[in-house]
Amino acid sequence: MDQELWKAALAAQQHAYAPYSHFSVGAAIRCGDGSIVTGANVENASYPLGCCAERTAVNSAVAQGHRQFREIVIVGPGPDLISPCGGCRQVLAEFGDMVVVMTESSGRVRPRIMRVSELLPARFTKEDLDGV
Ligand code: THU
Repeated sequence: MDQELWKAALAAQQHAYAPYSHFSVGAAIRCGDGSIVTGANVENASYPLGCCAERTAVNSAVAQGHRQFREIVIVGPGPDLISPCGGCRQVLAEFGDMVVVMTESSGRVRPRIMRVSELLPARFTKEDLDGV
């Protein structure tokens, strides 16, 4: 695993705003140019408006001019590995077939590494919109 990326995800986890679930998540993306963009979950008193760490990271990266993503490391509060929700899988899939590394914060559990195409087979993509 990319240790620098994992440490960035851990640092981002510290900024999670999770007063309702108390479940802090951090995410860090390695962009195509090698730079790192991070995100954390941001909850809201109107619960459905909360945003997962993965989506916060993707949206921040895109807003900073990135479109190519190599890898995302996700860190949950542990002790188990966490896996991106269905909505986040679709958002990750918008930007290609990046590597998804699922971790927990102690570093004791071996990360689970999958591609977006494995996490969301038969996904809806922009190609599905072509020719209509
Ligand atoms: N959450 C994430 O940020 N990423 C995940 O992969 C799973 C869940 C957040 C959403 C919510 O703020 C809290 O964790 C509990 O579901």
